[in-house]
Amino acid sequence: MRILSGVQSSGRLHIGNYYGAIREFVRLQEEGEALYFIANLHALNSVRDGARARELTLETAAAFIALGVDPARATLFRQSDIPEVAELYWILGTVIPMADLQNAHSYKDKLAHGAAPDFGLFGYPVLMAADILLYDSDVVPVGRDQRQHLELTIDWAGKFNRQYVPGYDSQKRTGGLLKVPAARTRDETASVPGRDGQKMSKTYNNTIDLFGTDKEIEKQIKSVKTDSTTPDAPKPTADQPLYELLKVVFSPEEFAAIDAKWREGGGDPKTHGYGAFKQTLLDGYHATFDPARKRYAELMNDRAELERLLQQGAQKARAYAAPVISRVRGAVGL
Ligand code: ADP
Ligand code: TRP
Repeated sequence: MRILSGVQSSGRLHIGNYYGAIREFVRLQEEGEALYFIANLHALNSVRDGARARELTLETAAAFIALGVDPARATLFRQSDIPEVAELYWILGTVIPMADLQNAHSYKDKLAHGAAPDFGLFGYPVLMAADILLYDSDVVPVGRDQRQHLELTIDWAGKFNRQYVPGYDSQKRTGGLLKVPAARTRDETASVPGRDGQKMSKTYNNTIDLFGTDKEIEKQIKSVKTDSTTPDAPKPTADQPLYELLKVVFSPEEFAAIDAKWREGGGDPKTHGYGAFKQTLLDGYHATFDPARKRYAELMNDRAELERLLQQGAQKARAYAAPVISRVRGAVGL
């Protein structure tokens, strides 16, 4: 089984990225041939400063490794080190209906949040499809927000195969030039709320970061939105980002005790107020992420080693890509 996924290097990583994506990458590297990459071409849509883009690429690579992606086991690489992906992006684009892109949720959402409608943003799902199809991927673990991109990829791979493979069987999906992948989303942790209760996202300025300073993290956790329930009263569980975050960060067993306290009224304000629950979340955050934060700092102090690991990954990734791009070139007549 070949597993592929990527994360854009467009900003600081947050705990939503970990629980929604990276944690699953770490698990899956045990189950098959995993390819994980830093989507630094996608990131150019929002990072328009070369030095910053370069820095964020390395930060994202360090984050993957610090959080448990093992470069000896998984192929870890930088999207831009594989020029074949840009070629496949173009070729795929020639068979993709405009309407599919006009209807993509992420494009519409970004415009609604004030992003400029650039061609890069519009074509973003096509590059993502090229990422997936270039390596004959079987399984693509992504968060729920990326699911539509995967469905589009599946459609487009079928369309391409029907166009270029005489007698291609769309039902069985076998014998195509491009392998049709399966989606994999983990619904129980698929959407981590941000401090304000919307989906946690670096674009909404509502994150709890993975690699901020202790002070920054404390400030972020203390600013999680709560309601006006008094400390001694039972707390509501619906639409409460603090409650959801505690559920995500703690194991089910640990959370059971926190949940009981949350629901019981009449306790000591010092232990049953929202402030106390925020402190619990902060403690849970440190217990979970401090080892990775330490490793991250070490990695960022050895850029040459990071670079070496990425080059090694790129070599492996290009070897996976070579037969696919050669089939595609042959079929389309290049
Ligand atoms: P952001 O929304 O902060 O820009 P990205 O779009 O770069 O994050 O997402 C990187 C990965 O992390 C994707 O696989 C995405 O599904 C996952 N992810 C991002 N935010 C969340 C979240 N709040 N909950 C769960 N997964 C998330
Ligand atoms: N679009 C994804 C995100 O925002 C990143 C990404 C790019 C990706 N190419 C991909 C994810 C291919 C999975 C497969 O997180």
